[in-house]
Amino acid sequence: MAEVPRPTEKQAALPPQAIVMQMVMGAWLSQTISAVTRLNIPDLLKAYGPQTALRLIQDHDVGARPEFLERALRACASVGIFSEDAEGRFGPTAFSEVLTSSSAVSVKKLTEIFGGTWWKVWAGLPDALRTGMPQAKAQLGMEYWDYCKANPKEMEDFGEAMKSNSHLSIRGVLEHCDLSGVKKVADIGGGFGHLAIALLRRYRDLRGIVLELPDLIPIARKHLGDENPEVVSRIEFVGGDMFGEMPAADVYLMKHIIHDWDDARCIRLLSNCRAGLVGNGRVICIDAVLPPMGDTSGTPAKLLDIDMMVFIPGKERTRKQWEELYDAAGLKITSITSLHDNFGTSIVEGRKT
Ligand SMILES: C[S@@+](CC[C@H](N)C(=O)[O-])C[C@H]1O[C@@H](n2cnc3c(N)ncnc32)[C@H](O)[C@@H]1O
Repeated sequence: MAEVPRPTEKQAALPPQAIVMQMVMGAWLSQTISAVTRLNIPDLLKAYGPQTALRLIQDHDVGARPEFLERALRACASVGIFSEDAEGRFGPTAFSEVLTSSSAVSVKKLTEIFGGTWWKVWAGLPDALRTGMPQAKAQLGMEYWDYCKANPKEMEDFGEAMKSNSHLSIRGVLEHCDLSGVKKVADIGGGFGHLAIALLRRYRDLRGIVLELPDLIPIARKHLGDENPEVVSRIEFVGGDMFGEMPAADVYLMKHIIHDWDDARCIRLLSNCRAGLVGNGRVICIDAVLPPMGDTSGTPAKLLDIDMMVFIPGKERTRKQWEELYDAAGLKITSITSLHDNFGTSIVEGRKT
């Protein structure tokens, strides 16, 4: 596998206007990477080794024009997604590896969805800034979760994207959250159940509930694939509304849920969890915690914050804002642990006050 190129001194010495234009052209780069990923180029190069654009099309039925595909692959190779040689052959790299379906830490689905429906909705950003309103309805004709319900393929792709984005944060939860002795964990809006399953694999006496939109449940079950039947026997998928009554549990998990909603809905969610808590249980949210004002770090979480602004009435929050939410729901944050994942996620753990 070819080495991933690092910025040269010449690139590092670029004038500000050239650096800013590179940032702005990041949107084009994102689209190009997404389009070639949708054509399965990373998978094909992994399976068959370096190929020209023409060979990819002739031998593997890639639906593209040779010259156009070559131009797209060259743009990707310029940032290390593929290698490129003088004969016009493109090969796999460590970056293209994570865009393959077989990678253990694959971001293929997420990359594809960024360049698809999400790209459409992002076109509404200027209107979101002007009106303070998310733009899914304006761009897709309905709110995002309704759009998913009306388009099962989108719902499945979104679920897969969430799952594929979760490898590092799940590893972080396994490392930092001790669930020894816990009887029941409820993953609220748990998608395909990937977090719950990881925990049930680790803790043999633990039982799990995944509360999800009813339409997602059959898709989630399908994606269980060849998961260990013993683990599956300890998980229950419940179709319902997270703003209704919560199933009772010792530990509630909400991964990338709180950032989807406005403060009033978040307080309701956290209060519902509090009401369902058995004994001195815990409410664990896995989401971004933004640095305080004046700290310019945390670009991935700050961009995810814009994604929330554009799509849904949600947002990323600072530690202080998290504390206010927990406090309003009768909970107290006991620890915040930052993880090194794709979006700068943290584990926010709390108990009843
Ligand atoms: C951002 S995704 C997070 C999925 C998963 N927790 C993860 O991090 O991979 C939000 C999830 O909330 C679910 N959801 C949205 N509204 C819901 C509702 N009213 N009741 C239950 N689940 C809901 C969606 O189907 C989606 O799977």
